[in-house]
Amino acid sequence: MSSAQICIWHVYPEPALLQQHVAQGIERLAAEAISARGAFSIVLAGGNTPRAVYEYLRGIKTAWQAWHIYFGDERCLPSGHAERNSTMASQAWLEHVDIPAAQIHVIPAELGAEEAARQYAASIESLEMFDLVLLGLGQDGHTASLFPGQNYGSEHHQPAALAVHKAPKPPADRVSLSAWRLGSAIRVWFLVTGADKALAVRKWRDGGGIPAAAISAPDGVDVWVDVAAFA
Ligand code: 6PG
Repeated sequence: MSSAQICIWHVYPEPALLQQHVAQGIERLAAEAISARGAFSIVLAGGNTPRAVYEYLRGIKTAWQAWHIYFGDERCLPSGHAERNSTMASQAWLEHVDIPAAQIHVIPAELGAEEAARQYAASIESLEMFDLVLLGLGQDGHTASLFPGQNYGSEHHQPAALAVHKAPKPPADRVSLSAWRLGSAIRVWFLVTGADKALAVRKWRDGGGIPAAAISAPDGVDVWVDVAAFA
């Protein structure tokens, strides 16, 4: 049975300061992990909210060859499609820095949800804990591609990656890391900005069973949120 989620809320007056502090936090965590273990593994969030953070990361001073990039979810669209989360991350950050291509672990969502989920689960099997998992929040409380009323994959006997169909946010077919796998991390950071997320945040704080609340990491999760979403 997955443990109850502990949330640490970091409330910011406006998104720009939040994004800067998150990027600086990622830079610090990477430096610590690389000096301690020679590598830094990070799971990227999709959607629009993390884009500014990724753009900020272009300019940081770090040993890029020690970074290992994973994705929390992907949309089943052709490789390189503009609406793919991997394309957003590449254009905002990854194609501008020297992370070895073999260390950028894109979800092969072009293969279809089932096959991509199976292959991705196998590809991350050897990695027990991620250093950092970044997640967004949808207006309905979804995170990655774990949607209300669908299977979150909270139990460790369930697959590490799930094939998702009939997603209420297009495209309908997606691949998502499961809730237990997203919580298998030293740190889990949610990035949440904008008044359109306020209802989901309210429900979350009131203990409502939104998908985002299904992600529990050993030391709790941090939610970086602006006042518009937290109000
Ligand atoms: C996706 C994302 C999804 C996203 C939220 C928030 O593929 O769409 O993984 O979970 O993080 O929908 O999206 P915005 O940041 O664009 O509001």
